[in-house]
Amino acid sequence: MIKKGIILAGGMGTRMSPLTIAVNKQLLPLYDKPLIYYPLSVLMLAGIKKYLIIVNKGQLNQFRKILPEKNNLGISIEYKEQLKPGGLPQAFTIGEKFIGKDSVSLILGDNFFYGQSLTRILKKNINLGSGAKIFLHPVKNPALYGIATLNQSKKVIKLVEKPKNTKSNYAVTGLYFFDNKVIELTKKLKPSKRGELEIIDLLNLYKRKSKLKAEFIGRGGSWLDTGNISDFYDASNFISAIENRQGLKVACLEEIALNNNWINKNQINLAINFYGKCDYSKYLRSLIA
Ligand code: G1P
Repeated sequence: MIKKGIILAGGMGTRMSPLTIAVNKQLLPLYDKPLIYYPLSVLMLAGIKKYLIIVNKGQLNQFRKILPEKNNLGISIEYKEQLKPGGLPQAFTIGEKFIGKDSVSLILGDNFFYGQSLTRILKKNINLGSGAKIFLHPVKNPALYGIATLNQSKKVIKLVEKPKNTKSNYAVTGLYFFDNKVIELTKKLKPSKRGELEIIDLLNLYKRKSKLKAEFIGRGGSWLDTGNISDFYDASNFISAIENRQGLKVACLEEIALNNNWINKNQINLAINFYGKCDYSKYLRSLIA
């Protein structure tokens, strides 16, 4: 059973400059919440209570302000700085102490998942056992992502990072479950041509040992990109449309914690004080009315 989660919230967000010069991308508003709320909500829905958030050097206090170690969510949060960007698998060496002898999940701080099937899929896979698990979702433009090629029995036979030519449209989303071997395997990786450790290389090490499994987030779920400004606003509009239609919030962390019985009315009231007079607080108040 995976009980720990790492959120990788480093990166320079250069594609979103000048928005990201003073503020980390993961703290920009995706509609009505900071972007990082969304990936955190995913792991909370999976039942994970222990977190390591990896941030850029010098940006710790930005994150602490909105997600303090002592929070009202019933979860524990630790922070570590990434001194210089060295690729996604760095999460496992930076997080070595945090992971200890356990298995771990990793989610990229800018990944947005949504859909009714999501919680079911997460819960189904949280008892990982050994190996690694990836979550695939069809995309129109495979050249932008890590892509998995499958055989007829839907087994992964090939993984390539941002392929120029591929027949597969199954992207490897930014959510991964790993057993404890991930630390040792990460240490075997060599930087790629762009000078970084690649998550696809790490996954290929698991695949070679027949220890890689794939789960599918089908059409009932959505995985949206927040990589560039236009995608970012599309995702924002998607959330706005859903929230304003349903009157329910996407990725309201306190609501998830309350539903998981991690917190009670008291913490909701503390959260309302923390956020101050705003729509988000109004929504929180409605949860305990
Ligand atoms: C990274 C991974 C890629 C994955 C993607 C998901 O790419 O390298 O395999 O499909 O995240 O968001 P990046 O977005 O850093 O280019």
